[in-house]
Amino acid sequence: MAILITGGAGYIGSHTIVELKKRKYDNLLSVDNFSNSTPQSYNRIKKVVGEDINQLNIDLADNQMVRELFKKYAIEGVIHFAALKSVPESVEKPLEYYANNINSLINLLDCCKEFEVNKFIFSSSCSVYGNPNELPVTEETPFGKAESPYAYTKQIGENILKDFCKAHINFKALSLRYFNPAGADESGLMGEIRTESPNSLVPILAQQAIGIRNSFEVFGTDYNTIDGSCIRDYIHVSDIAEAHVIAFEHLSTMKSNYDVFNLGSGKGNTTLEVVKAFEKENKVKLNYSLSGRRNGDVEAIFANNDKAKNLLHWTPKYQLEDIVSSAWKWQKNADQ
Ligand SMILES: NC(=O)c1ccc[n+]([C@@H]2O[C@H](COP(=O)([O-])OP(=O)(O)OC[C@H]3O[C@@H](n4cnc5c(N)ncnc54)[C@H](O)[C@@H]3O)[C@@H](O)[C@H]2O)c1
Repeated sequence: MAILITGGAGYIGSHTIVELKKRKYDNLLSVDNFSNSTPQSYNRIKKVVGEDINQLNIDLADNQMVRELFKKYAIEGVIHFAALKSVPESVEKPLEYYANNINSLINLLDCCKEFEVNKFIFSSSCSVYGNPNELPVTEETPFGKAESPYAYTKQIGENILKDFCKAHINFKALSLRYFNPAGADESGLMGEIRTESPNSLVPILAQQAIGIRNSFEVFGTDYNTIDGSCIRDYIHVSDIAEAHVIAFEHLSTMKSNYDVFNLGSGKGNTTLEVVKAFEKENKVKLNYSLSGRRNGDVEAIFANNDKAKNLLHWTPKYQLEDIVSSAWKWQKNADQ
């Protein structure tokens, strides 16, 4: 029986495949439609783990394709990463985001029901909390106002999953709310898939350092933080990947059939702290300007990760220094 990894060619999916392989999970099947990645990801995974990955080009929003997949392969459980994830793009193209992210989830759950697949992990996001009133956020912190269609697809996704679990008591599922995944595999052989205009901070710093962009802007200098820039919780992608393996194992022993975990470092860092850490660790000088606040940015968000520590026995291993140094190692890799 295979573990189905959707979006396995993407950033977090590819790192999770590496972690699963390291822990001797050999029967993996990755599906991706390469809407935000390329098949080259699998060559990179192979360089790290030394093996080919079973993979198919499938659009999960296509109900028929998903049904054929479940008919053909014996699937033990699903780790569902596949989604469109750009906040600004979701504001421009809300229907694409709703259609892709929601239909993919429904198609998968529908097939789980039909083919009696009872384990499911869903990639959620700290964006479900909106602009929280209290920090750090715990899993009990209520959903806030979704600041984008993307964030709303995560709130809807969690609700769909919760309702599905209520209706199907043998089905076990977890929603994992990631904070700001960053960094790259320590080999430097794989990392965040390069795009011309990344939305995440660390790839922007790496692109500036290598000269792909002349400069970047730090948005907001008057937030109520130590240096006026906003605070996020940066968590190494390999820590997130490890949490998925542990969470998948947790599904077999958990008492309830649905639960939610925050996956964050538990520590907030300002944008300028990350910039300075990047400069210091990598011995480079970054060129940036300080600008006004950007629409839709929250002042600060970081996780209380006690629940994942206590129930999953997961503790992040990597620090901010590892995040910025691994991202730089990956950026300098000509294979990008
Ligand atoms: N990276 C982050 O900052 C972050 C933060 C919180 C939550 N998440 C969530 O984690 C998950 C993985 O994120 P990521 O950073 O690896 O993104 P990613 O874009 O690198 O990977 C997602 C993969 O899914 C694929 N995909 C999208 N729609 C598909 C479809 N209909 N059928 C098949 N494949 C499809 C894409 O081609 C891509 O390879 C997403 O659900 C994302 O929303 C990411």
